[in-house]
Amino acid sequence: MTEKDGIEKLIRPDLASFGGYSAATSPETLKGKVEVAVEDIIKLDANENPYGCSPGVNRALAAYPHFNIYPDDGQAKIRELLAGYCGIDARHIVAGGGSNQLIDLILRLFLKPGDEVINCVPTFGIFRFSTLLCGGNIVEVHRDNSFAITAAAVKAVITNKTKVIFLVNPNNPTGTMIPRPELLEILDTGLPFVVDEAYCEFGRETVTPMVGKSPNLMVLRTFSKWAGLAGLRIGYGLFPEKIADYLLKIKMPYNVNVAALVAVEESLKDLAYLKGNVDKIIAERARLYEELKNIKWLKTVPSQANFILCRVEKGEAKELKQKLQQKGILVRYFEEPRLKDYIRISVGKPEHTDALIKALKQIEKTQ
Ligand SMILES: Cc1ncc(COP(=O)(O)O)c(C=O)c1O
Repeated sequence: MTEKDGIEKLIRPDLASFGGYSAATSPETLKGKVEVAVEDIIKLDANENPYGCSPGVNRALAAYPHFNIYPDDGQAKIRELLAGYCGIDARHIVAGGGSNQLIDLILRLFLKPGDEVINCVPTFGIFRFSTLLCGGNIVEVHRDNSFAITAAAVKAVITNKTKVIFLVNPNNPTGTMIPRPELLEILDTGLPFVVDEAYCEFGRETVTPMVGKSPNLMVLRTFSKWAGLAGLRIGYGLFPEKIADYLLKIKMPYNVNVAALVAVEESLKDLAYLKGNVDKIIAERARLYEELKNIKWLKTVPSQANFILCRVEKGEAKELKQKLQQKGILVRYFEEPRLKDYIRISVGKPEHTDALIKALKQIEKTQ
């Protein structure tokens, strides 16, 4: 037996077939492999903000004198700042290194091996990823042809092992919203219900005011999308007070780094600028949608987020993603059966839309 076999034997058997998470491609890994220089790559694959962060964030980080000191473990200041932004008491708020970290913490709090998590697919991959890491089982509720989901479909799969229900609103990667009455009916089940509002600033609908009034409602938000802070990893959740207390107890100490704390403070001082960028993205979403509609072999799904899902009706979606990548435009393709004919395109600046449409028309000629 080799040394490797010996140590592998000690790894949790249920992780032997764990597939991991397939993240978006990093432009630097494409150096020399595509037709353009790395700095000219147009990144429309991870729903990042093309306008960047508030300039105040750059200034404050350049001048920050205390990177040698740990952040406040109790998150007192950021919880107060977020309370002001969300209009909800700080006792309900917990921050994390990206909202991904909060997804993981919630599952660690509720799941024991063999418990079930309801996931409304196709949706964001981390719910599945973290559930499996926690030894839980995913129970899928399949969205219909227009990617809609009903409370009845969710309720039909509830068992005595169901511990958490996840719903993204607007959903990633479809951009679709659940009607409010359906959402409320799921909330009425009384089971821990996580509404992930990573994209709510682009959809302008939130259940935040209901937090604390329903004992089972948890809402996740992030600074990655609307505030352009994806690289600094900062998200937060709004929870019933008791749940927030538990999450603060089980999180890693100092889980939000000081650079992210400074960035949040500066972002919240510069809301007019950041909201202006969100408005630009919403306007560009409408233009991108119309432009894509003119390409007859792409079928667009109306979106309330900062991306548009498209069905590729001529050629293979996976091949189209590769061809665009070759031209220096990154879009997202998902290795899952339900999405095998789709690509997801993040909304960029107007010039990114122009470059994308030009590339699609060039590809069309070769199809
Ligand atoms: C639905 C959803 N939730 C959470 C996240 C992760 O956000 P964060 O960068 O805050 O971890 C994303 C990122 O793509 C997302 O699409």
